[in-house]
Amino acid sequence: MSVSLLAQNLHGSEIIKIAGEINELKRQGQNIANLTIGDFDSNIYPIPTPLKDKIIDAYNHNQTNYPAADGMLDLRQSVSGFLKRSLGLDYAPNQILISGGSRPLIYSIFLAVVNPGEKVVFPAPSWNNNHYSDLLNADAVIIPTAPENNFMPTADDIRPHLKGAALLALCSPLNPTGTMFSKKDLEEICDLVIAENKGRAAGEKPLYLLYDQIYSQLTFGEHKHYDPVTLRPELKDYTIFVDGGSKCFAATGVRVGWGFGPELVIENMKAIVGHMGAWSPKPEQMAMAKFLTNEADVNSYLDDLKEKIQASLTALHEGFQEMKAGGLNVDSIEPMGAIYLTLKIDYSGKTTPDGKVLKDSADINFYLIKEAGAAFVPFSAFGTGDDVNWFRASVGATPLNEIEALIPRVKAALEKLK
Ligand SMILES: Cc1ncc(COP(=O)(O)O)c(C=O)c1O
Repeated sequence: MSVSLLAQNLHGSEIIKIAGEINELKRQGQNIANLTIGDFDSNIYPIPTPLKDKIIDAYNHNQTNYPAADGMLDLRQSVSGFLKRSLGLDYAPNQILISGGSRPLIYSIFLAVVNPGEKVVFPAPSWNNNHYSDLLNADAVIIPTAPENNFMPTADDIRPHLKGAALLALCSPLNPTGTMFSKKDLEEICDLVIAENKGRAAGEKPLYLLYDQIYSQLTFGEHKHYDPVTLRPELKDYTIFVDGGSKCFAATGVRVGWGFGPELVIENMKAIVGHMGAWSPKPEQMAMAKFLTNEADVNSYLDDLKEKIQASLTALHEGFQEMKAGGLNVDSIEPMGAIYLTLKIDYSGKTTPDGKVLKDSADINFYLIKEAGAAFVPFSAFGTGDDVNWFRASVGATPLNEIEALIPRVKAALEKLK
């Protein structure tokens, strides 16, 4: 008995392996601060109350049949208004597609614009582009990035790879790093896409840009979110945005995503999402439609969520900076957006008290889970090599006091390494 080649070639999730280890230790009674999952603890971060009330209300009114294939018109109109109001982006309801969270949007973008064997260009670390490329049997061109540029790709990194590519997949604020494009870097990359498309023959499939901005509402302090179409309006014909309510409203289980872009691509994505049946549930769509139009409710929720997430990220960042100042081989990059902090824990080659050599980032991670009760995700789970000793810490599912408490435990565990 066997399964398809595609199924055989799919990679399982690294994060699920780590979760297995954590659950086993928890069963044995260990206290683990779990900073691995890109989710929220809904008791710390419940969804907006008006959104919840409206979902319940829609069920009470029996709104339980099929929604429209591209999403309910009311919701597409609300999303259109929200995009205009919050980001200055002009998209009509027929350029917007609703799906059950944002994942179906990403998959349908890949399916709508990439043929098997065609080049898909994306940076590492980044989230899941490798898996979507595998699903399509695309030629994944993975661009390494550097801590000096906050692990964001530059035009120089990307330039050699765009010739003939079908898709460039970018994300900002970025999962796993919590860092963002600077205006200049994104402008320079946009100019590469424009130049590549100018060079293509009439009628040839263009290079499309997938721009995942699902964390765009979660930015901190001075850090401003930029997008390709605002910076270079001529990219409107080639840019397909991935966006939605999962992260900015801590509503990962509510499943309302919105994508927007050129009508032709959106139309094709709509057919694909329809065949998958990956619609967003109708009551959730109706509730999100009403919620998004209430600017005061949206803003007060976002202000509160951002304040709490930023406090957690800052506590972790400061804790790591203190360890660094104390001579430990760690570092962290200032949090800019999303729910993630980038951590360096550079201890490969070191030996544990029971004589085991930590050979790579996965070993360091498992050592910290056991010895410090602190779990992160190595960047290797996001497409980098095992030798990259940088990690993602996700703060949405852990209370601030537990984040503060893990710092001395990590410090003590690292000090034991020889
Ligand atoms: C960058 C990025 N895009 C998209 C998604 C998918 O979100 P959803 O839960 O709406 O499918 C995630 C989820 O972790 C993400 O981190």
